[in-house]
Amino acid sequence: MTTPNARSASRRAVLAGACSACAAALAGCARYGTSNGLAGSPAQGAAYSSPAGTGSSAAANAPAVLAKTTDIPVGGGLILTDKKIVITQPQAGTFHAFTAICTHLGCILNTVSGGTINCPFHGSKYSIVNGSVVNGPAPLPLAAVSITVQGTSILQA
Ligand code: FES
Repeated sequence: MTTPNARSASRRAVLAGACSACAAALAGCARYGTSNGLAGSPAQGAAYSSPAGTGSSAAANAPAVLAKTTDIPVGGGLILTDKKIVITQPQAGTFHAFTAICTHLGCILNTVSGGTINCPFHGSKYSIVNGSVVNGPAPLPLAAVSITVQGTSILQA
């Protein structure tokens, strides 16, 4: 009989193997809108880290700036591949964030288009409004990530 830990370890091994191609295929940060689906600069995700040269302990404790509000297209979203977070703006001024890890086999989601956040591997699609599954095989919705908007900055809460 297989113990629960053995089954869990086996499942992790399967998941890791299934998504090695995901990690290789997807790097950097991609921006996607609703009209043309064109990718933005691969460096965008790294452009909004903590300000350089602050060096204070207050800066070390400050919430991370994930993006600028202007980086998130209305009706679309921005995938921060390095942070495994997707930020969406379903309506002007309304922002949501979710984990960018597919709940099917754990691959990184790679596009936002037509109102959904999409997985390239088996076709799962999630709502940009609430992370719910719009198209399987994903079994679960995306987990929400807490964010706050301060001025034009989107911070991880
Ligand atoms: S990993 Fe299978 S649909 Fe995303």
